[in-house]
Order: sequence, then C-alpha cells, then structure tokens
Amino acid sequence: MPFTTCVFDAYGTLFDVKAAARQAADEGDFAELQNSWEALAEHWRIKQLQYTWLQSMTGSFADFWEITQNALDWALAITNLEGNLELRQRLLQLYWELAAFVEVPSTLEALKLGSKKIAILSNGSLAMLEAAVRSANIRDLIDEIISVDAVRVFKPDHRVYDLVEQCCGCHKQEVLFVSSNGWDAACATGYGFSAAWVNRADEPIDRLPWTPLTVVRDLSEILPLSDS
Ligand code: LAC
Repeated sequence: MPFTTCVFDAYGTLFDVKAAARQAADEGDFAELQNSWEALAEHWRIKQLQYTWLQSMTGSFADFWEITQNALDWALAITNLEGNLELRQRLLQLYWELAAFVEVPSTLEALKLGSKKIAILSNGSLAMLEAAVRSANIRDLIDEIISVDAVRVFKPDHRVYDLVEQCCGCHKQEVLFVSSNGWDAACATGYGFSAAWVNRADEPIDRLPWTPLTVVRDLSEILPLSDS
C-alpha cells in the first residue's frame, strides 16, 4: 500500500536537541560551557528520555516540559554546572526555539507537493511543539501536531502510536514513520508502521526485535520512499 501520511518524531528528528547547549556556548556569556556543552547536551537528552520511560512504566505522567527541566537539572549537576541560574534559564529558553535541521523545510515542502499528509507525533507538550514549529517557520507545512498530552503516556506505548490513526484518519499500513531515535523507529515498526530511522550520527542499530524498513542519514533521503 502506498504511503499517504508521513509522521515525524520531533526532538532530534526535526529539531536539533543539541542546539540549545551549542548556542548558549557560542553566545560567550557562559565560558564554563566551552568544554562541556556537548556532555551537557548528551546527559540532558538521555535523562529526559529515561524519565519519560520511567513515568510510563510506573503509570504516572508529568508533562514533557517538567521532565525537560528535571533532566536539565540532573545534567547540570553531573557536569558541575549546578547553581548557575542564568545559564539554566537561558538553556530552557533556547529549548523553546530549537533550530530545525537544515533539510527539514525543503523535505516537508516536497512531501506536500506529493500530496502527502504531514504530521508530528511527539512526547513534547502541545505548547512546546507549537512554539518549535513556529520558531522554525514550518507551521504551514504540517497538517497535524499530535502530542502525548492527549493520552498522558509516552512513546513507545502503543496508545501514543494509536493517535496517528485517530488524528490523521488513515490506516497504519499507509504511514511512513520517521524518527532519529533508534528505539522509536524500532518500536513503531513493531507497532505496524513502516519506519525510517534517521541515523544522523552514524550510530549502531539498536538491538531490539524490530528492524526499521530503512536507515537514512538525513530527512531528504526519505523522499524516494514516499513515492512508493
Ligand atoms: C519526541 C522525542 C522522543 O519528539 O524525540 O517524541
């Protein structure tokens, strides 16, 4: 069955999650970040994901903004940057205006020209996602912004993936699901989507029971697939 609908993960897939720490380091006000911004960004992201999984496993829910702040506090502590309230404030502010990866607008435009429906399915809160797409200037290219807020559980719980059929009016067999998170691409495959893993950093594939349909280096490489 041809794909009618392309569904994108947000953080790491459309938006560069490392951009906040990188930009704060570039701004020059935070000399302490010069050598540690990458470690900070890495810890921040991993903790953020772990907290979402722990919330889901324990049947509790805190929205993604609260989780993002708690994860940052842990990351600041482990990188010895705790206590710098100005830095904390700036990093959180930058998280609301993360840069989109360079190929995002042209890829979404090409999909639109091909009459594909375009959706975001993300752990992010609706407010965060709306702010991110507006700041990246891609709001007009996206038909549906689907947040886990609606089900109060995080990916890879199947109730999140269920939202795609509910919100987009399509069948899962018609969906090309695109994520830079290996675990998300794998679990979406297990759910029944055809998935493309965007392996920007040349990482090894996750050892999970489900293998994505394809592995690409950036989003533009999904365009031939979306023609099928
Ligand atoms: C998201 C995270 C998992 O946007 O990247 O859902």
